[in-house]
Amino acid sequence: MPRLPVLPSILVALVLASCSGEETSSPPPLPAIDREAEAKRLLSGPDWYRHAVFYELYVRSFQDSDGDGIGDFRGATSRLDYLKSLGVDALWLMPIMPTPFKDSGYDIADYRNINPDYGTLADFDEFLTEAKKRGIRVVIDLVLNHTSDQHPWFQESRSSKDNPKADWYVWSDTPNPPDNPCGLQQPIFGTSPWAFDTVRNQYYFHRFYAEQPDLNYRNPEVVEATLDIARFWLDRGVDGFRCDVIALLHESKEGCDLLPETKDYIRSLRKVVDGYPGTVLVAESTNFEDASAYFGNGSDMFHMAFNFAYGYLWGFDFMSGKSGRLYEVFGKVLTNYPPGSQDALVIGSHDVVRSSVAVKKHPWSTRRAAELQMFLRGTPFIYYGEELGLLPGQATVVDLRDAARTPMPWEPGPGQGFTTGTPWLPFGPDADRLSVASQQADPSSNLTFYRGLLALRRGHAIWGTGTLKLLPLDNEHIFAFSRENDEEAYLVAVNLTDEPQQAITSATSLPSTGVRVWGNGSVQAQSNEVSIDLPGEGSVVWKIR
Ligand code: GLC
Repeated sequence: MPRLPVLPSILVALVLASCSGEETSSPPPLPAIDREAEAKRLLSGPDWYRHAVFYELYVRSFQDSDGDGIGDFRGATSRLDYLKSLGVDALWLMPIMPTPFKDSGYDIADYRNINPDYGTLADFDEFLTEAKKRGIRVVIDLVLNHTSDQHPWFQESRSSKDNPKADWYVWSDTPNPPDNPCGLQQPIFGTSPWAFDTVRNQYYFHRFYAEQPDLNYRNPEVVEATLDIARFWLDRGVDGFRCDVIALLHESKEGCDLLPETKDYIRSLRKVVDGYPGTVLVAESTNFEDASAYFGNGSDMFHMAFNFAYGYLWGFDFMSGKSGRLYEVFGKVLTNYPPGSQDALVIGSHDVVRSSVAVKKHPWSTRRAAELQMFLRGTPFIYYGEELGLLPGQATVVDLRDAARTPMPWEPGPGQGFTTGTPWLPFGPDADRLSVASQQADPSSNLTFYRGLLALRRGHAIWGTGTLKLLPLDNEHIFAFSRENDEEAYLVAVNLTDEPQQAITSATSLPSTGVRVWGNGSVQAQSNEVSIDLPGEGSVVWKIR
């Protein structure tokens, strides 16, 4: 499969038409042992992140506390109990620092402060304290590849060719220099990766919007200054960073993706983080085939990296109804990832279309995709509103990605419990019906479905760290695997089509005592083989022992 661009919204939006199905997920059984105590134990050790359920939270769209229509930290603090009750153990906050907001905060103008729209450093500290009180950790977005053009570093750099920061960005006399980084002809956004600066009379390189000039990591001062930013937030008590487009720090003529110099930088960042025990680094991978290179030797680069081969491309598997690609993707995880690495699993994010409409023709597939996200080996990151099945909004403030960034509807009625004012971005469709309050008591709601999924994971080490075995089948329409640790073992199977499917595997055995703990399929021992039966659109999680 060809390498894909960083933001494949288009990919996930590819699928059309519609078709739906009934849900018959059974509730999880009562735990035989105290799973809450076990969850506490798992989440308090250094491997907490392998057992945690993360939640990607957009402060701007979560809860407004002062009626200006913009979510803020005081608002988010007031919603921590909701997150706790959902079963969330850690948060990834999208950028929270001051910004001219040309790229929703991914254009930072001050790395050591809080976006005044969201509150003050004191509000942030209070949020951290309250989150920690509830056992919820907080990881923040760290955007190091570029700054805003309004950042004082850039303002100084552009002021002349010989100021102390003249070399902190990537400057050129021509818009097409012979050493054009990666031969890049086009940035991710816009038409040319070189923008002319009228003050300095030179062009600067930008991988994203022209308002996001790339920092020059060949300058050791840039390296020191950015590592210091990490120290600043770690000293404040954050539990780590989601590292934005981290592979792109260094440019060269030959390539731009995770160059050896970039890996060296990541190792330095890891050393900084290792000075704060229990803190973690999550990579936004720019490799859509295989994220293994982000883990280094398994303990010197990232703790986790997003597996976008699954996270952004799962829609293809349900469109085709075929499992081959999934076997390939997770086959690579098994063969290529160094020991110690941990997959970070998503089914959506702020960069792609809402998972609820990723496969318009098969809306049921979103829940199946969420099941794979929860039960494959790795750490799930739920995108806010995914638990409600939020639909894409229609308005745009920054760019088309705003469709997936609409405010949380907490209750029916004007303002939806999000704000007493006018929301900064209109709510998506059906906000009354999709609100937390409307879904709360409905056993068939998406929220209830997510609560069930998270309850099934909670306090079971197997889902984060148990071994994963992909089960070869005689039916390409089913994807099946087993999970195992000393304590328990499960078989998980998902039907990728809306027709009933049956499959046989000889790759696992089944005692007669097995029991279904989730889904509507069934699994049976047949002499030396195991047969899997799934209704159309169905799935099963079968406890083997
Ligand atoms: C990452 C972010 C995206 C942002 C880009 C530039 O891909 O997820 O939202 O636009 O980096 O910072």
